[in-house]
Amino acid sequence: MVSVCVVVVVVVVVVVMCVNGDSGDLNTPISVLLRGLTKDLGHSEAPRTGDQEREWWADYLCHQTNFQGQEQKHIIPLQQLFRDVTPERRDRNVFLMDTACNTHPRYRAWCSVESWANQNPDLDVWFLMTSQKVSDTDGLPSLLMHKYPNLRLVGTHLAGIFKGTPVEPLYLSRKWTVSETWPPEVLSNMLRALVLWHYGGIYSDTDILSIRPFTLPLNATGFDVEAVVGSALYAFSAHHPLLWTLMEDINKEFIPGVWGIIGPAAVTRVVKKACGTNDTYTLLHKAPVSCANKSVTIYPDTHFFPVFWHEFERYFNKSTGLNFDKDFKSSYVLHMWNVFSKWTPIKMGFFSIYEAAARRSCPLTFSRAILRSNFF
Ligand SMILES: *[C@@H]1O[C@H](CO)[C@@H](O)[C@H](O)[C@H]1NC(C)=O
Ligand SMILES: *[C@@H]1O[C@H](CO)[C@@H](O)[C@H](O)[C@H]1NC(C)=O
Ligand SMILES: *[C@@H]1O[C@H](CO)[C@@H](O)[C@H](O)[C@H]1NC(C)=O
Ligand SMILES: *[C@@H]1O[C@H](CO)[C@@H](O)[C@H](O)[C@H]1NC(C)=O
Repeated sequence: MVSVCVVVVVVVVVVVMCVNGDSGDLNTPISVLLRGLTKDLGHSEAPRTGDQEREWWADYLCHQTNFQGQEQKHIIPLQQLFRDVTPERRDRNVFLMDTACNTHPRYRAWCSVESWANQNPDLDVWFLMTSQKVSDTDGLPSLLMHKYPNLRLVGTHLAGIFKGTPVEPLYLSRKWTVSETWPPEVLSNMLRALVLWHYGGIYSDTDILSIRPFTLPLNATGFDVEAVVGSALYAFSAHHPLLWTLMEDINKEFIPGVWGIIGPAAVTRVVKKACGTNDTYTLLHKAPVSCANKSVTIYPDTHFFPVFWHEFERYFNKSTGLNFDKDFKSSYVLHMWNVFSKWTPIKMGFFSIYEAAARRSCPLTFSRAILRSNFF
């Protein structure tokens, strides 16, 4: 008698990754929309399209990207910031970004982008995407670019933009991809400091709506809940020393898999150092307060973060927007807390704060969104 034993081992590994960005809607891509950029920005070389070699980081950032089933004519290829296109006006820029390679950003992200273009016609608004192209299936991206000459959609040449900066070692180490749980968020935290370092202006998350022209002088940050200095919005002139310090801090303090370590925590560490104190509550009571020989000003929470995260429902609840002008007379922007609120619907005719802000600041996105359904 011969017995044969066969041992079969089946290993099933299921990895579920949840990406929850602090930088707004990260379900979107990074790249530059071509439309007239060559002309606008004085570049004469032919625009490159999205067929260049795939970057190494794309394997970590772009696994969700999917163009299948879309007709080629609905795809807009993007030029890359730093390589193909450069902002021509120093310090007159607003940067928003999607670092998760989404090709089809959500209406809320477009509303944020449109709000900056709408409320700040004299600033150049850049929507950076890590995808090489953006989907124009519903025609919204091309409509926005047509109506707002100050809006540009671009990809980003990461290798170039990191080169020679304090965060280059971290970028090259690949620690922020291979061993990180949230690569798009980490990239976003590095990239916002980098683009302001190179070009100057304002950085805004894509869950922030601009509700009036940003008239504050640059070198501005704002307090958020619990006297933390927010990283969802800050504004600096190019080559500001605090941005360099921030990048040094990020490079030094980054630990893979620790949520938020280089977000608001990093900006707060750097501001504490600039102000020579560990007591941000005392600073908050004096806000707006300037530090380091007036090289940076920290504004009170009413300016950039008037509604704290634990109250985010206020933005969506019925009738909360009825006294909009009075309630937000000191606010430049509203931070919608996408990380908590992304599944909370914005309902038409609710007179919510979000609806009031959207009607005022992103009218094209708003009308496009409500064509499809009475909430978005
Ligand atoms: C911002 O900081 C830069 C660099 O320190 C300085 O040159 C510039 O004048 C400052 N801008 C404002 C509006 O204070
Ligand atoms: C703030 O705290 C850090 C670490 O706890 C300490 O090294 C630093 O000296 C403190 N700074 C001030 C101004 O108290
Ligand atoms: C602070 O700024 C003033 C005027 O801009 C300058 O004269 C002074 O040297 C600066 N002080 C320090 C410590 O940088
Ligand atoms: C928003 O409405 C919900 C449901 O009616 C209610 O439970 C919640 O307390 C409200 N939140 C705020 C901040 O108004």
